[in-house]
Amino acid sequence: MEIKNESVLIMDFGGQYSQLIARRVRECNVYCELKSYKTSVEEIKAKGYKGIIFTGGPNSAYDDKGPKCDPEIFNLGIPVLGICYGAQLMAQTLGGKVSSSEVKEYGKTDVEFDTSSLLFHAAEEKNICWMSHTDYISTVPHGFKITAKSADCPVAAMENIERSLFAMQFHPEVQHTTEGMLYLKNFLYNACGCTADWKMSSFVNDTIQRLKEEIGDKKVICALSGGVDSSVAALLVHKAVGKQLTCIFVDHGLLRKDEGDQVESIFRKQFDMNLIRVNAKDRFLSKLAGVTEPEKKRKIIGEEFIRVFEEESKKLGKIEYLCQGTIYPDVVESGVGEAAVIKSHHNVGGLPKDVGFEGIIEPLRNLFKDEVRRAGLKLGIPEFLVMRQPFPGPGLAIRIMGDITDEKLEILKDADAIMREEFANNGLDKTVNQYFAVLTGIKSVGVMGDGRTYDNTIALRAVTTSDFMTADWARVPYDVLEKISNRIINEVNNVNRVVYDITSKPPATIEWE
Ligand code: XMP
Repeated sequence: MEIKNESVLIMDFGGQYSQLIARRVRECNVYCELKSYKTSVEEIKAKGYKGIIFTGGPNSAYDDKGPKCDPEIFNLGIPVLGICYGAQLMAQTLGGKVSSSEVKEYGKTDVEFDTSSLLFHAAEEKNICWMSHTDYISTVPHGFKITAKSADCPVAAMENIERSLFAMQFHPEVQHTTEGMLYLKNFLYNACGCTADWKMSSFVNDTIQRLKEEIGDKKVICALSGGVDSSVAALLVHKAVGKQLTCIFVDHGLLRKDEGDQVESIFRKQFDMNLIRVNAKDRFLSKLAGVTEPEKKRKIIGEEFIRVFEEESKKLGKIEYLCQGTIYPDVVESGVGEAAVIKSHHNVGGLPKDVGFEGIIEPLRNLFKDEVRRAGLKLGIPEFLVMRQPFPGPGLAIRIMGDITDEKLEILKDADAIMREEFANNGLDKTVNQYFAVLTGIKSVGVMGDGRTYDNTIALRAVTTSDFMTADWARVPYDVLEKISNRIINEVNNVNRVVYDITSKPPATIEWE
């Protein structure tokens, strides 16, 4: 679905903060698209962007092998803001000079600003900015003036107001740049003339309206998992076409304690959706019997999921559309041209595109995760569901080491429920990004009362992370760990030891399988 809002183009030169820039621009209520630096001038013109931002990147602007931009971009009359490598590229391309410095400027840096410049209007004259560079602009191009400097960086920012070209050596998108959002807003509102028309409430209303037009009187089917993305996508479609949408909830029996009932009750009772719950636990467990290899478990679950979904959808007769909860980070191009890094295993529960539908409906295709959550809240989905931590498609199957049995599932569900309850009691559910229990498959000796035990070991895993690609183990207070450990030992049968996983990612992954 096309977005009709004013839009800014973010050209990705491979910087680590490219997606963060896009999220910040959207936080300024300006819609933006993140595309490769190779995006052609023709496409830029055709799209009618109000502004362009060049991201950072790992290369040197004076190196022939680094990514370049078409100089014609600077003649389009569209305001351009270069950040870090983007700033240097602008300088180099327009006849300035970029040099390599002896000192690498990294981290929080004091910067002095010319507050008469457009970009730093209403800003403090001195402030902290986040720097991360070795190269620097040593000579600005003709027509530019220097608008900020630091001790080691003579051109921390420059601008050519006549041509509406701006550059910052530091990163306004990073939180450590104290007034970064102000500089971005100055660019977006004052240079590009954006009117901040990207609001979640209008996104929700516009999308519902457009879905109504697109779907007409046809039928839609959606695989609901209880996760944030599929829930929000389904609810948007439901608001648009009501009972023309049927949701199929394949309960593979590998969900957390009581989760299946919760999902059913929210969507059937609260939202009066057409929901078919398929209780397929026995079917999944019999396919998984004796399987110990993690990738094989994933594959079986993924395939069985599709089979169950297909069987159920066939029973419904002709359905024209399939609704999916694809979100922007799943589809966004990476800066250097190759496909975005999506782990194949993350597609478990995803459906093949060619299962006989006329079209696929992906209402969240342009949204970042935090925007999906805000849309979910606007739609009235309960906060606990909208804000919930990620949960893998194969569910508890990859948190039970070795083969899966009903007994093991029950042990893990109970232990995990205790951990989640104590995290919520202590407010850790707000600060820790993912946390769960693992049934390790290790048995060890213990002593309970007067007797010797030989029983299961539960591991607790809790991580803080912003992107789930890297993660740090969470510094959970000892008394919370103690409470969880005591409760698990006392309340869950067949567990006599609880350990806490203190490995970051890398080298470990977040999940144990
Ligand atoms: P890892 O274990 O790779 O996990 O560090 C990173 C994030 O991905 C989630 N994850 C999965 N999600 N299907 C999913 O839908 C999977 O097979 C899968 N494996 C890992 C994991 O929970 C974490 O948030």
